[in-house]
Amino acid sequence: MSGTSHAVVTGGGGFIGSHLVARLLEEGYRVTVFDRADSAGASPALREAAWVPGDVRDPAQVEGAVRRGVDVVYHLAAVVGVDQYLARPLDVVDINFTGTRNVLEAASRANARVVMASTSEVFGKNPAVPWAEDDDRVLGTTAKARWSYGTSKALAEHLAFAFAHQRGLPVSIVRYFNAFGPGQRPAYLVSRLVHRALNGLPLTVYDGGQQTRCLTFVGDAVEGTIAAGTSPAALGEAFNIGGHKESTVAEVASLVNELTGDRVPVHDVDTGKLLGASYEDLGRRIPDTRKARDLLGWECRTPLREGLSRTVAWARSSPDWLALPDTGAE
Ligand SMILES: NC(=O)c1ccc[n+]([C@@H]2O[C@H](COP(=O)([O-])OP(=O)(O)OC[C@H]3O[C@@H](n4cnc5c(N)ncnc54)[C@H](O)[C@@H]3O)[C@@H](O)[C@H]2O)c1
Repeated sequence: MSGTSHAVVTGGGGFIGSHLVARLLEEGYRVTVFDRADSAGASPALREAAWVPGDVRDPAQVEGAVRRGVDVVYHLAAVVGVDQYLARPLDVVDINFTGTRNVLEAASRANARVVMASTSEVFGKNPAVPWAEDDDRVLGTTAKARWSYGTSKALAEHLAFAFAHQRGLPVSIVRYFNAFGPGQRPAYLVSRLVHRALNGLPLTVYDGGQQTRCLTFVGDAVEGTIAAGTSPAALGEAFNIGGHKESTVAEVASLVNELTGDRVPVHDVDTGKLLGASYEDLGRRIPDTRKARDLLGWECRTPLREGLSRTVAWARSSPDWLALPDTGAE
């Protein structure tokens, strides 16, 4: 890539976004972060990027960041996390739909390429795993707020493809599968297990812990994202960006416990009692990643154990993160 390429990262202050920004800066990009959060909490390295505070729901603010001269927009801004889908379904839908539309409009005017962050959740609860990119979506009732996220991300994908079709916008979609790593809010599978284990709290698994996930180390997710933003073969395409190894939640809990010194018990939680009827989990969530391998040359390279070890090492040296309140159950 040319050292003068200019990338805008919406949601660049978040978990995946901040790793992406760091990597783009390393690669010599000029980077602008567009995020509701300002740079106050960012590491010194990330402050090398220009920060434009704003909300993707506001078209004028988006246009202030996505202007002529911008080469690529990585659109990651979103409300993320099951706790958030249940608490803020209106924001979830609005930011995914209106926010994405604003980003696509601005990119179209600026003549910039777009990579949109989507999710394995667009496949919903399709039982026919592994999921290839063009497999069906099987989503639950709109009466359950839990589906607001996957549904609105799928709609945002439709918007992106529609801009490609009707306006010729160069756009690609990356669907992440359970990314984890340093810096993630302690409200997700790995981050919460590590946070609890290092704080001496019992680990919790839901409903027996036999659900499976293909965890993706954040560094791999970032490499897949940049490949989607640079490869000519990526244009007009969606890619599953996910790990190869299917692990049960119970196995991940046990591995985290081992890597943190086997100090805490593992408790099983009945989600029906704890989270109520609007909560619904997925049994297996498995990507078929052959398309990303064949078109982008991308594969998830970090073994689960190594990714977890790196996350635990980072967490041990992050007192501010360890002091965050525990999010979720008990
Ligand atoms: N983490 C995962 O495992 C995962 C899985 C699938 C998809 N994704 C997608 O990847 C992207 C990044 O996820 P993440 O895990 O880094 O989440 P995150 O919550 O850490 O980061 C999201 C960022 O977006 C910003 N943001 C939220 N609303 C905004 C708005 N209205 N305007 C501007 N900025 C706003 C937040 O301030 C935050 O910095 C999201 O689009 C998410 O849907 C993540």
